[in-house]
Amino acid sequence: MERALIIGSSGGIGRALANALKARGIDVTGLSRSGDGLDVTLETSIAEHIGRLNGPFDLVLTVTGALEIDGQAPEKSIRHLSAQAMADQFALNTIGPALILKHAIPLIPRDGRAVMATLSARVGSIGDNALGGWTSYRTAKAAVNQVIHTTAIELARSHKQAVCVALHPGTVATPFTQKYLGRHPAVPPAEAAENLLAVIDKLTPAQTGQFFDWKGEQIQW
Ligand SMILES: NC(=O)c1ccc[n+]([C@@H]2O[C@H](COP(=O)([O-])OP(=O)(O)OC[C@H]3O[C@@H](n4cnc5c(N)ncnc54)[C@H](OP(=O)(O)O)[C@@H]3O)[C@@H](O)[C@H]2O)c1
Repeated sequence: MERALIIGSSGGIGRALANALKARGIDVTGLSRSGDGLDVTLETSIAEHIGRLNGPFDLVLTVTGALEIDGQAPEKSIRHLSAQAMADQFALNTIGPALILKHAIPLIPRDGRAVMATLSARVGSIGDNALGGWTSYRTAKAAVNQVIHTTAIELARSHKQAVCVALHPGTVATPFTQKYLGRHPAVPPAEAAENLLAVIDKLTPAQTGQFFDWKGEQIQW
C-alpha cells in the first residue's frame, strides 16, 4: 500500500487508522465532517470533496457512521420505530457509503491491487441476529452490505485486482459506543485499527464482495 484515503478520519476508528497507516509510512489523505465540512448524507458534498482529490489511492476506507443520530437512540423494540430515525440511519449508514463508493471508484487504479473497505457492523448480519432491537441501525447496515456486495461484482469486471469489502471492527471504545457498552468488553481504537489493517493486508481479489470481522473471519449475511 502506498496511498490511503480515509473518509471519516475524525472518528475514533478513523483517526486510529490514519495514525497506524502514517506510522507505516503510507501517504494518508483524510476527509471528515468536523475537519473539512464533508457531509456524507449529501451527494453534492461528497462529489465536491472527493472530486478535488487526485488519485490513485490503493486503499479507500469509509469509516463514518453513527448509532444515534440527532439524539434518536437505537430502538429497543419495533414499537419505538420512527420513520425519521430510520430514514436518517439509511442516509448516514447506507446511502452515504454507497455514494462514497460511486465517487471514489475513479480514484483507484485499474491495474494493481486496491482495497475499498467500508465499516459495517456484525449486528447488520441477518443470519447472526438472535436478539432483535436496533431495527433501523441493523437494517441500514444490512443494506450497506448489499451495496458493497453488488459494487464488488461490478468492480471486478473493470478492476480485476480490486477488493471491495464490508468489515466489522469489533466492539471498540469510541464516542460511538460510549453510552452502550455497559459491561461489554471493548478494545481501544489503536488496537482495532491494527486488527483491521492486518485483515486488509491479507485480502485477495477472490474475497471481494464479502463481509469479514476484525479477525478476518467471514460473517454470514
Ligand atoms: N465502535 C464500535 O464498537 C463499532 C462497532 C461496529 C461497527 N462500527 C462502525 O464503525 C464506524 C466508525 O465508528 P466509530 O466507533 O469510529 O465512531 P465515532 O468515533 O463516533 O466516529 C464517527 C465518524 O463518523 C463521522 N460522521 C458522522 N456523521 C457524519 C456525516 N453526516 N457526514 C460525515 N461524517 C459523519 C464523524 O464525523 P465528525 O466527528 O467529524 O462529525 C466521525 O468521523 C461506524 O460505521 C460504525 O457503525 C463501530
